[in-house]
Amino acid sequence: MTQKLHPQTLAIRGGKSQTEYLEHNQALFLTSSFMWEDAAHAEALFAKKVKGYTYTRTANPTIAAFEQRVSALEGAERSVATSTGMSAIQAAFFTFLQAGDHVVSSRNLFGTTAGFINGVVTKFGIGVSLVSQTDLAEWRAAIRENTKLLFLETPSNPLGEVADLRALAELAHEAGALLVVDNSLMSPAGQQPLALGADISVQSATKAIDGHGRVMGGVLSGSEALMNQVAMYCNSCGLAMSPFNAWTLLSGLETLAVRMEKQFANALEVAQWLQTRPQVKAVYYAGLPNHPQADLVQSQQNGGGIVIGFEVENQEQAWAVIDRVALFSRTANLGDVRSTITHPWTTTHGRMSPEDKLAADIRPGLVRLSVGLEYAGDLIDDLAQALG
Ligand SMILES: Cc1ncc(COP(=O)(O)O)c(C=O)c1O
Repeated sequence: MTQKLHPQTLAIRGGKSQTEYLEHNQALFLTSSFMWEDAAHAEALFAKKVKGYTYTRTANPTIAAFEQRVSALEGAERSVATSTGMSAIQAAFFTFLQAGDHVVSSRNLFGTTAGFINGVVTKFGIGVSLVSQTDLAEWRAAIRENTKLLFLETPSNPLGEVADLRALAELAHEAGALLVVDNSLMSPAGQQPLALGADISVQSATKAIDGHGRVMGGVLSGSEALMNQVAMYCNSCGLAMSPFNAWTLLSGLETLAVRMEKQFANALEVAQWLQTRPQVKAVYYAGLPNHPQADLVQSQQNGGGIVIGFEVENQEQAWAVIDRVALFSRTANLGDVRSTITHPWTTTHGRMSPEDKLAADIRPGLVRLSVGLEYAGDLIDDLAQALG
């Protein structure tokens, strides 16, 4: 075929390396190393004069297939797979930063990412300024001469606050800095940060890409030039994805777009219903027509995503709802086909101090849902009985 294939076709057909057995599914190359025909072949492989593989920490055909399919969906020249979402975020920072540099980051981050930025990045002599997700003036004011990287998640988890990626990309590039976006909550089926001007899209593949709560993984996408540097960092630090996980995640990619379409629709239905409940003080969902940034959501996202935050009176009520649900799984994962429920104050954001949580609008009465593929009416019935 000579015509350019649609990314959705490439997510299913792309990056395949077929063996002599003509297997239909992508083969799983569960091997730590690859053999050489002779010493000259080894020399040629290491010098990259011939195509092939040497050692799975560096590259592996199953992992390469996963990376190529993610690239097709993210609109990237190259992607690099890692062991977890956190190791992908680590690579995005430490490939490009050194002591004396400065980072500007949104303060509305996943708790472990906030812990990494405040507790690890700062240990290496890198300055960090935390700003409001949505206040462009704050981002601008925080930029210094040595600012090398701007970082955020959009929409934020679990409050659904949306950052203007086009404006932030312009700001970053004026300052000679990279814009790095954590795309875990939308996945490339819902948002393509690179098309909006970001330099690197990073995500936890553990979330929507897997979609079935099976394995851990992370992936970074961007230009060939940036990703070549990332691949070198990941190889030096041993951050490689397991070939088994890549093989599992390949099947996740094949159904990602259809799962996301339905899960976004289910999430909207649940969020709209929650808005009608007297026990619910506030509902945070980027797809709501009355979301304060509805125009921005329309212009950069393909739907509202899978995560809903809603607030009841206090922690006691939040825990009562969580303890009473029968269908939702009480677990921290999100993006799964099974809907999940969490109490951010005491779990995902538990490492943050109460002051930092309150500054990020994470309050004790907040409940987070990740909406799956169940029938939306059943999810609503479950929440109705749990709310009492
Ligand atoms: C937005 C976001 N980014 C990154 C991560 C980290 O991913 P992983 O658990 O695969 O390391 C998570 C995990 O929940 C997340 O929600």
